[in-house]
Amino acid sequence: MADFTPYRPFARIMHWLTAILVLLTIPAAILMLQPGIGRGLQDPLFLFHKNIGVVILVIVTLRLAYRLVNPPPPLPNHVPKLQRIIAEFTHWALYGLLLAMAVSGYIRVTAGGFPLEVFDSLGFPHLAPRSDELAQTAKSIHSALRLPLIALVALHIGAALYHGLVRRDGIFQRMAPPLRGRLSPAADASRAS
Ligand code: HEM
Repeated sequence: MADFTPYRPFARIMHWLTAILVLLTIPAAILMLQPGIGRGLQDPLFLFHKNIGVVILVIVTLRLAYRLVNPPPPLPNHVPKLQRIIAEFTHWALYGLLLAMAVSGYIRVTAGGFPLEVFDSLGFPHLAPRSDELAQTAKSIHSALRLPLIALVALHIGAALYHGLVRRDGIFQRMAPPLRGRLSPAADASRAS
């Protein structure tokens, strides 16, 4: 196993939380929009998708703020320049697309006058003004970004699997779930320092 410096535990927890929620909410969205789906299934899927989407918005915002204060550990020297550029681009594009998806979804719902069940019951205000035109624009943006986001998520997962299973070069381990006893001695040493 190659030596590596892992991301901090908070960054790794937030990463895996985002991954789980995004991988649940995309299929939920696709399913809830299927023609002929009964209301008995559609309503809970909408409720799940909208409210989890807002949770994703909060988490991604927190992650960006945390990243500003705690920059990620540098990639190991053996990573070629082109791969570094692709990784950097993919990570920022993922942040951007997740934010754009979550914000456009939020505006689509609140400007459209629809409820955000969990957040409404907690007393959160609707921040977008009520406007059918705004809701329609947000809906078009939300729909247009879905394929680029799905493609980027697939690329990201493919790259992670390639590093974790094929190359075994420590890149995957940098962001591995923060479970005890899973890091190399070098990583443990750097984490402890
Ligand atoms: C990163 C978070 C999110 C992702 C990845 C995501 C993903 C998606 C996807 C893939 C669709 C299907 C679009 C289509 O086939 O046209 C969709 C639809 C939808 N999403 Fe999201 N979404 C997110 C956040 C949100 C949020 C925060 C809300 C609302 C608070 C929301 C509300 C909706 C609604 C209402 C639809 C149905 C669109 C329509 O009116 O036809 N989404 N979402």
